Amino acid sequence: MIRNPAKMDEITTIGVVGAGQMGAGIAQLAAVNGLNVWLLDSDPNSLTRATKTIANSLQRLASKGQLSQAVISDALKRLHCTTSLKDFHSADIVIEAIAESEVAKKNLFVELDKTTKSSAILASNTSSISITRLASVTSRPSQVIGMHFMNPPPIMKLVEIIRGADTSDETFSATKTLAERFGKTVVCSKDYSGFIVNRILMPMINEAFFTLYTGVATKEDIDAGMKLGTNQPMGPLELADFIGLDVCLSILKVLHGGLGDVKYAPCPLLAQYVDAGRLGRKSGVGVYDYR
Ligand code: CAA
Repeated sequence: MIRNPAKMDEITTIGVVGAGQMGAGIAQLAAVNGLNVWLLDSDPNSLTRATKTIANSLQRLASKGQLSQAVISDALKRLHCTTSLKDFHSADIVIEAIAESEVAKKNLFVELDKTTKSSAILASNTSSISITRLASVTSRPSQVIGMHFMNPPPIMKLVEIIRGADTSDETFSATKTLAERFGKTVVCSKDYSGFIVNRILMPMINEAFFTLYTGVATKEDIDAGMKLGTNQPMGPLELADFIGLDVCLSILKVLHGGLGDVKYAPCPLLAQYVDAGRLGRKSGVGVYDYR
């Protein structure tokens, strides 16, 4: 059934699922920009950590004069944490930012479809999984869309918007306007594995791993070469640690499977690091040691 999705001027309340780095950053952007926010995670400890991350990030922005204490105080009042989907009953849009698992995301979309109001837009922050397939488990595929923020969401200027096969113009327009309200520039991608950014970024990161794996250069020289040689803020191996090696591996598998080209096959060294629990900054060790 086609319903009328929430229009941008009617979006006052947002639900964010997943209180990791991305979910916390998205919740922060929404609260600062005047929305009532419900941040949901099944783990109360993650919610506590996310609240601290958001408070720290807001203070960093305040210390640079980018936010006033009054804006911060109002934002924190609008931010609510919950472990129950029932609190999403008034949400005009829900953005999920849980782990990159198609099964987990589909299960969540089934639940969101049942518990949110019929006009709500259901958005996914997925970095590579098909929006069309996520939409297919709901009764509202025209209101399902990809809204892909870059890490860290409060700082990075881009949001990639992905239309599934049935995403309506109204859903696209409301989502684009919301991203712009967050101060982001929008690029629009068709729904093919990896969209724009990861389709191009992940082969570079993978190639950096192959360069290390085949002994062409040290990790420091690979990173310095790309950082200073192509003016990137981080070298590709350092960036992989920042994103999470498990996340990079999972995106490469989606690219490899979805686009069917061997050029996306993950480097064995990347897979081995993940097998060893070396996931990057979040686990204390990845390509580099942060302990
Ligand atoms: N909140 C508020 N401010 C923050 C912040 C946060 N979460 N993170 C960083 N900052 C601010 C710092 O306060 C600092 O401000 P000043 O320069 O004014 O002092 C500034 O950002 C730079 O931070 P740092 O000095 O701590 O460190 P840095 O100079 O190395 O910058 C970085 C950090 C912004 C992350 C930068 O290294 C960078 O841009 N790296 C590349 C990030 C990137 O490519 N992200 C996209 C990854 S791909 C992706 O996300 C898609 C996917 O699906 C995998």
